[in-house]
Amino acid sequence: MSLRLGDEAPNFTAMTTEGEIDFHEWKKDSWAVFFSHPADFTPVCTTELGRTAALKDGFAARGAKVIAVSVDSVEDHHGWAPDIGEVSGTSLNFPIIADPDHAVSELYDMIHPGEGDTSTVRSVFVIDQNNKIRLSLTYPKSTGRNFDEILRVIDSLQLTDQYAVATPVDWVKGDRVIASPAMSTEDVQAKFDNVEVVKPYLRYVDDPAASAS
Ligand code: BEZ
Repeated sequence: MSLRLGDEAPNFTAMTTEGEIDFHEWKKDSWAVFFSHPADFTPVCTTELGRTAALKDGFAARGAKVIAVSVDSVEDHHGWAPDIGEVSGTSLNFPIIADPDHAVSELYDMIHPGEGDTSTVRSVFVIDQNNKIRLSLTYPKSTGRNFDEILRVIDSLQLTDQYAVATPVDWVKGDRVIASPAMSTEDVQAKFDNVEVVKPYLRYVDDPAASAS
C-alpha cells in the first residue's frame, strides 16, 4: 500500500555507508529527507547526490537530516562516492542505504515496475520530527530533482506548523504569506501585519516569523 501524507514513516534497519542504522533511531527528533536514486555510477544520480551534499548546511539549518537509498550494495556506494565529490566539488556527507534485497525500497513503494527495471525511481519523502510523512514526490528516472525545492517545502511546512498561514505559489522564505481562510478578516487584521485583502478568502500578510525574530 502506498504511503500517504500524515502516515507514520515506516521504520526499518539497514546497512548504509555509515554502518547499520535503525531509521527512527537515526533520525530521532529531527526532520528527515529520505530519497531514492535509481543506481550508482549513473550521471543524473551523481549530480543529484553532489547537489544534496552541497546543501548540507541548508538542511542542517532547518533541523533536517538527509539519507539516500538505492538497490546497490554498500561496496558499490563506497566505490561511487569519490566520483560524487570529484564531479560536484562536495564530498558525500550523508549516508546512502544499501538495499540489494529491495526491503526498504518496497516498504516505501520506490520501485515502479512500469519504469523499466527493478531499480528505484526518484522518490522523496520529507518526514517531520514526529516521524510523520509531510511530503512525497516521485520523479522519473530521466529527470533530476531540484533539491532547493525540498528546502523550500521544509520552510513552508515549518512556518505553517507554527502560524495560521499558507504559502502561495512560488513562495520562498521571507515572502508574504496567506492568512488561513478559516480566520475572519477582522481576526487576520488583529493578528498579522500589513494585511492586503485581495479577495475575502485571499488575504496576504507579512511573514509572521520575520517579525517574531
Ligand atoms: C541517471 O542517473 O543518469 C539515470 C539512472 C537511471 C535511468 C536514467 C538515468
